[in-house]
Amino acid sequence: MSKLRHNPHLEPFTRQDSLVSPEDLRQRQGVEKVYPMGNNENPLGPSPRVVEAINSVAPTLSYYPEYSDIALRQAICEALGRGLAPEQIFTGCSGFETLELIARAYLAPGDEVILSPPTFSGAYRKVAEPLGAKIIEAPLAPDTFQYRPEAVLGVVNDATKMIMLCNPNNPTGTITTAQSMGALMRDLPDHVLVVVDEVYHHFVDAPDFPDSIQYALDGRNIAIAHSFSKAYGLAGMRLGYGIAKPEIANAIAGLHRGFHQNKLALAAGIAACQDQAHVRRCIDYLRGEVAWLSSRFDRLDIKYWKSSTNFIMFETPIPAEDLNRQLHERGFLLRTQTRNNMPFGMRVSAGTRESNQAFIAALEEILDRAFT
Ligand SMILES: Cc1ncc(COP(=O)(O)O)c(C=O)c1O
Repeated sequence: MSKLRHNPHLEPFTRQDSLVSPEDLRQRQGVEKVYPMGNNENPLGPSPRVVEAINSVAPTLSYYPEYSDIALRQAICEALGRGLAPEQIFTGCSGFETLELIARAYLAPGDEVILSPPTFSGAYRKVAEPLGAKIIEAPLAPDTFQYRPEAVLGVVNDATKMIMLCNPNNPTGTITTAQSMGALMRDLPDHVLVVVDEVYHHFVDAPDFPDSIQYALDGRNIAIAHSFSKAYGLAGMRLGYGIAKPEIANAIAGLHRGFHQNKLALAAGIAACQDQAHVRRCIDYLRGEVAWLSSRFDRLDIKYWKSSTNFIMFETPIPAEDLNRQLHERGFLLRTQTRNNMPFGMRVSAGTRESNQAFIAALEEILDRAFT
């Protein structure tokens, strides 16, 4: 046997071949139509201006992209407003990679990272653990899934380096309020970085949602992750960015490879930022569909959590894995929450009205059979 040993911290992680994709489902189940309602994607797609921008760049792909992502950062600043400047922005190849870059810039073996499950734990572990960091959990309140700043502060110590705050939270769809985040920020020691994962921020309309960008503008130890995968409708492009004070943003961007962002992503991101009317249409549409799905759960007397995102977590009347199997047979791809220790938890992404209606009809049919 070879003496070559891989990084021992990689042990819990495996290839992702076993996850079910829409194409797998089509082939395995032989269904004509697949409803992808598991990844919180935007069913309305990207702006036509993005498609145009990609098409115009495609013939030049034999040449490397620009050295710098400055044009994209400028477009992001214009879209965000708030007086943000490009030195407060860093880009990543996806929201996920944005989190990875933050982690690589700050975490060293032995550092502690606090998560509040149920949250996007699988990804946060994958970001932190290969670097030798240790995960500490300060769970959300049972059932309401409220953020508990006092529980988080209670596990902060000298080894704490990072707090992951997913807001709005995946998979629950719930938010951490401005008051809760304020309590966290007020009492947090200066050696800790708060990483706020806000990839669903566009969908929030709660008045008490925190203004995390203001913390960055005020020079606090915060790094905010945003993505082009959700409201911008560009999940397949793999583009994201972060917001932080220049000291933090520059340290993170220092990890970029040469030609980090590919040409298509740069062009797509800039065009996407410049078509905010499209983003607005997507937000309005998806919020409407979340409201519609919620009203149907009400009618079916199915418990769900009020969502500030483009997805809803609900309680399944039969074990979620059982429901999931039956939904697969009918072409529906959702997310069970077994890995988050919720055997009766399931997450559905808002699709088009047609998909949502088909999903509710399938759910009713499965439950009718189960209970008659
Ligand atoms: C909470 C959260 N953070 C980050 C991501 C990663 O998004 P991206 O597609 O930009 O990698 C997701 C994706 O679903 C998510 O739900």
